[in-house]
Parts: sequence; C-alpha cells; structure tokens
Amino acid sequence: NKLEMELEAIEKGGYDHFMLKEIYEQPKSIADCLRGRLDAKSGRLVLGGLRDYMNKFQNAERIIITACGTSWHAGLVAEYLFEEFARVPVEVEYASEFRYRNPVVGEKDFIIAISQSGETADTLAAIELAKSKGATIFGVCNVVGSSIPRTTHAGSYTHAGPEIGVASTKAFTAQISVLAMMALKLGYQRGTLPENKYIQLLHELEAIPGKVEQALKTNDAIKYIAEEYKDVRNALYLGRGYNFPVALEGALKLKEISYIHAEGYPAAEMKHGPIALIDEEMPVFFIATKDSSYEKVVSNIQEVKARKGKVIAVVTEGDTQVKALADHVIEIPETHEAFAPLVAVVPLQLLSYHIAVMRGCNVDQPRNLAKSVTVE
Ligand code: G6P
Repeated sequence: NKLEMELEAIEKGGYDHFMLKEIYEQPKSIADCLRGRLDAKSGRLVLGGLRDYMNKFQNAERIIITACGTSWHAGLVAEYLFEEFARVPVEVEYASEFRYRNPVVGEKDFIIAISQSGETADTLAAIELAKSKGATIFGVCNVVGSSIPRTTHAGSYTHAGPEIGVASTKAFTAQISVLAMMALKLGYQRGTLPENKYIQLLHELEAIPGKVEQALKTNDAIKYIAEEYKDVRNALYLGRGYNFPVALEGALKLKEISYIHAEGYPAAEMKHGPIALIDEEMPVFFIATKDSSYEKVVSNIQEVKARKGKVIAVVTEGDTQVKALADHVIEIPETHEAFAPLVAVVPLQLLSYHIAVMRGCNVDQPRNLAKSVTVE
C-alpha cells in the first residue's frame, strides 16, 4: 500500500534501490568500522574482541578462514594480508567444503569465520566442527547478536549498518577493513611488520574512506560503460595479487543481479583456459592498479587485445600504459596495494548495479537468491 511504499522510499534515503544506497554508504561504513579502533597519529590500533585472545592469535600455527559467497572473497583478500604482514600460513575454505571433509584442525589453529548475516548454515556448521576439535574461533560479522557471534569464542563486528540488498557491497568492504586491522595488529605484535611500516600502513588505511568517496565519482563514466556492455552474454574479470579476489567479486556481482554469465580469474590463469573464449564480443574487465604485478597485468591486457577482446580496466589515477591499450578505463585514487581491493571493488559494484537496472532486473531481490542462507 501507499504507506508502505512511502516508508520504503524513506528507508532508501532518496536512492532508487537499497544496493545503490549501500554502495554510496561505503565511505561512512568503512569509517564507522575503523572508528574507535584505529588512530594512525598516535599509532593506536585496538580491536576489543581480540584483547583476550591476542595470545592465541599471536601463537597460532595457522589461520583458517571460513565463509561463503562474498564473505569468502573477503577471506581471500585476508589471506594475502595475513601472509604478507604477519607471515602466518593461511587457508581459506568454503564453509560447505570444510565441514564435510574431515579437515585436519586442532588447538594450534585460529579460525576466522566471516559472515555478514551471522546466520549462514554452512558457516555455522564449520564453526561447530572446528570448535569441537579444540580450535579458537573468531567471528567477523555484521549483524549484532546473530547466531555466529553467539557461537564463537570472540569476534569483531564490522559495524557497516543493516545491509538490505541481497548482493553484498558495504559488508564486503567492512569485512576487509576489520581483517586488515587484524593483519596489521598481528604483524606488529609478531615483529614481522616493522614499526615505521606499520605506522605508514595505519595512515594508508585511515585514508581509505576518502579514497572510496573519490572512487564513487566514477559513477557517470561507469553508466556510460554499462550502456555499452549491458547486452553481452558473458564477461571475464581478471586481476592478480590483492586484486584477484576483486575479480572474483566483480564477476559475482554481475552474475547475481544482472544474470550475465561472468567468470573471475587470476589474470595469469587466463592462458590455461579462458583465453579460448576471447573474441571481439567478449568484454574483459581488468583490475589493473599500480602495484607489484602491474607490468604483468599490462601483458595480460595485450594478450586480450591481440585476440580482439574488449578491455575495460580499473586503473590508478594518472595511468598511461593501460590507457593506451584499453577500450575504456576507470580511474581510482592510488593506495597501498594491500588496501586496493577496498577502492577497486567500488566501480565494479556500480557497474553491475547499472547493468542490472538497464536490463530491468530486480536489483535488491534477484531471482533465486536469499540474503541469508540458513539451510544447507
Ligand atoms: C548469500 C548472500 C551473499 C552472501 C552469502 C554469505 O548467498 O546472497 O550475498 O555473500 O550468502 O552470507 P553471509 O551472511 O554469511 O556473509
């Protein structure tokens, strides 16, 4: 009825869909997640939930991250963060596989379960299993008081606020923000991250909300690109290093809400299969920001262009090399490569949003999908 419609319009805060509102909330949701925990100037980094478990965390022989969907992608980013900064071996497991595999897990393992809803059945079951084998379980969840935070030994909330759109956006960036803080803290405590580098990274992380704000300004350019590619049947997303999980997430967003078949791949794996798909019809979305694998990504772009694929690339402001090769570029601000996913994912979220709207899809409630999957 009319009242309900008006209420919903108010909840959407002037945006056409919850998903768009949530994409635009990210400068604030990331800041909210960092607030009270991170203060770069004084070198302060406190995660309340970690306090009683810092010993376990620091002495863990292995970190196992378990999650589903977008939260699993955040876990992949965390693998790179933990290994680079804290030099601890990390495994990232789909909860649904972990729980049924009779995994080798025990008291020396520190399990991180990531979940927006805190209700995902497979993730809950994976936690119960690891707990029964004596591991320490830490939750990274968004919904306060949900089942996962009640089952874990400790945890940190992401404080992203309610996420209504089925396709996860602001929860993903908040999860990475928490995991980044955990990795910096662990690296510093374990002495694998020298103080000066630690402080520099704290400053970099603190600057992320402002950079996400900048990245949102690409919206008009993205609408134009969306118009161009909205009718394709397939798409490929490629990235390397920290941006490999961003490629997976970009592809997932497109699949979820616009029903276009999309695959995410580590760019170097393209030659082992996906390259066979490339022709003049195939759009290839590259995440090609200035980082340690930039030159290699540039060669991957050349390989796609040589086969007449269309290249759309997310690049660092001021880029010239990729610009000269790509059909379209989307410029985002420069960041430390470890935090690039937080900024680089934003244009991909917007792109899938606009394509879905142009195709007339139900953006906030895509067919066959549920916001939280409480059955297996
Ligand atoms: C569902 C949602 C996804 C989400 C996944 C994991 O499939 O549609 O957006 O990433 O579940 O959910 P969780 O609440 O555990 O993060």
